Amino acid sequence: MNGDRVHIRPMIGTDIPQVASMETAVFPDPWSAGAFEETLGMTVGINLVAIDEQGQPRGYLCAQAVADEIQIHNIAVDPDCRRRGIGRQLLQEAEREGTARGAVCAILEVRVTNTAALAMYGRMGYRRIGRRRAYYCKPVCDALVLLKVIDGVHAESVRQDVR
Ligand SMILES: CC(C)(COP(=O)(O)OP(=O)(O)OC[C@H]1O[C@@H](n2cnc3c(N)ncnc32)[C@H](O)[C@@H]1OP(=O)(O)O)[C@@H](O)C(=O)NCCC(=O)NCCS
Repeated sequence: MNGDRVHIRPMIGTDIPQVASMETAVFPDPWSAGAFEETLGMTVGINLVAIDEQGQPRGYLCAQAVADEIQIHNIAVDPDCRRRGIGRQLLQEAEREGTARGAVCAILEVRVTNTAALAMYGRMGYRRIGRRRAYYCKPVCDALVLLKVIDGVHAESVRQDVR
């Protein structure tokens, strides 16, 4: 990537081939291109891409705003572009959009072995609230459930539950 700057924008249909190819390269149990198409058609979707200065997608995030939370389903950054703040920017934009839609917390699952993602989420203020045994396959692995309060003003009940 020439330069470290990306901008974050909503994912559109023409991003899907590159996003799906990144997904397949990164995850053992990847979403298909069809799954991305489906999520783009959902009104609850928060689907973002990080675009570099050449107009190429370098990272993406898919989440859903459901009731008062956003559920983050997948996030990945091109291996050549990691540790440049792209994952953080994607998460921040998803949280901002979630708050705008009335969400008070963000929730996600992550492999207990995924040290990079756990470091990022920890740095971003996500806290462990549970563990799901053998949640993942290929290979079988537990998931940690992480939560972050993203709207401190309206999240009194969430804060009390998490304490
Ligand atoms: C997890 C992932 C999205 C992070 O993306 P990224 O753009 O590299 O992350 P950022 O550069 O925004 O990192 C933000 C902070 O997270 C932490 N972090 C990120 N990657 C890290 C790593 N490999 N080791 C330690 N800390 C790390 C750091 O604190 C970092 O801040 P710093 O660079 O100022 O120290 C990326 O590693 C990835 O695509 N992994 C494969 C897909 C995946 O595991 N997704 C998560 C599924 S739940």
